[in-house]
Formats: sequence, C-alpha cells, structure tokens
Amino acid sequence: MDQKFWLECWESKNLGFNQDKINAHLVNFFPELSIPHESSILIPLCGKSIDLIWLLKQGFQVTGVELSSIAIQDFFKEQNISYTKEKLGPYTSWQANNHKLRILEGDFFNILSLEDSFTGIYDRASLVALPQSMRQDYYKILRALKAPIFLITVEYDQKKIDGPPFSISEKEVVESLKESFHISMRHSEKRESMSPRFLEKGIKDIIQKVYLLKKL
Ligand SMILES: C[S@@+](CC[C@H](N)C(=O)[O-])C[C@H]1O[C@@H](n2cnc3c(N)ncnc32)[C@H](O)[C@@H]1O
Repeated sequence: MDQKFWLECWESKNLGFNQDKINAHLVNFFPELSIPHESSILIPLCGKSIDLIWLLKQGFQVTGVELSSIAIQDFFKEQNISYTKEKLGPYTSWQANNHKLRILEGDFFNILSLEDSFTGIYDRASLVALPQSMRQDYYKILRALKAPIFLITVEYDQKKIDGPPFSISEKEVVESLKESFHISMRHSEKRESMSPRFLEKGIKDIIQKVYLLKKL
C-alpha cells in the first residue's frame, strides 16, 4: 500500500477501519504488559483512533504516527483537544496543549531517526495495513525499539483476496519477532466479516488474534 492509497482513503472518507468505540481487547489485555503509567506509548499508523484517548486516560504519554493530516485534524477536532504544531525531524508534531499527547505527521518508517525511546507499543490495524513487501521493515523497527508490544492481527485466506487488512499468520509473527520478544497469543476469535469486498470473495469469517510481546 503506498502513501497515495491511504491519503486518498482519508480524502474520500473511506474509513471502514476506524472504530467509534474503544477497543475491548486493549482494555482487557493491555494492562498485562505491566507498563508503568506516565511512561511513553507509541501508536504506529494511528489514524484518528479513539484508543489514544483510553491510553491517555490511563496516565500514559501518547505518541501516534500518522501520514494523513486530515486524520490528525479530525482526531483533535473530534476529541476537542487543542494543539500546537512544530517541526520535529522528518515529522510535523501536533502536540496537545496538555503535553501528554502528540501525533507525528509523516512516514512511520522514519521513526528511528528521532532516537526517542518508548516503553510500549500499541498496534491495532497497523501491521495488518502493510503488504508483505513492507512488513519486514516494520518488524525491523519493532525489534530496534525494544519495547513491549500489544498487537492485533487478522487471519483469512489471502489467496482469495488482497488486503488491507492483510492476513498475518502466527508463524510470521513468531519468526519475525522471536529473537527479541517473548510472544504469547493471548486471545483468538472468529469474527464475521463485515466487508462487502471480502463477502463477495466468499470470506465469511476472519480470525482475530491478540498477542502480547514482552522483551526478552
Ligand atoms: C488501517 S488504518 C488504521 C488506523 C488505526 N490504527 C486504527 O486502529 O484506526 C492505517 C492507517 O495508517 C496510516 N498509514 C499508512 N501508512 C503509513 C505510514 N507509512 N506512516 C504513517 N501512517 C501510515 C493510514 O493513513 C491509516 O490512517
């Protein structure tokens, strides 16, 4: 998926991935990572996710990274949070005026150039937004950041249809991250596919999996 694809999704409001409720798995399982409150959580490819607000309310410092300025503007408007903007390396940082939340506008694949450290990573609909050709670089960044990760994936028959969301096997997660993390698959559930695109191709169910990854 190139940047143009995602920017066009935001321009045309093609936002089937966006949830208007806080993710229940985040609430149920994130605390098991035992990340100290007031420390810093990174949310790659964050869109305008309301989950940032849940993390903020737990006392964490929140850093989202997002390509689309429309997404970021919508987020601050919908959550009624005032912000200031400043240049930060390759990004434009949209900083909430309470200083506890910022969204970095730009390409997530430049995140290591900031040399910031994070104590946790929240990935919902981020890894699965990336085609296989981009995922190795994404895993490389996760390994380099060395922070515990909360990860949600989906699995379905990728031969029937292309993503996003892309199907990510448990084998891929384990093979890509086992050198740096202890990986536990904490929850798995079959969900009815809601996407007309998937239904047309005969994909009625997808498996959603929740992983907790702790540093070795
Ligand atoms: C499937 S959406 C998920 C958004 C969010 N995680 C959620 O749960 O709603 C993927 C998002 O990643 C953004 N994105 C895609 N590629 C990106 C990149 N290289 N750097 C930063 N953001 C990116 C897109 O604009 C889009 O908002």
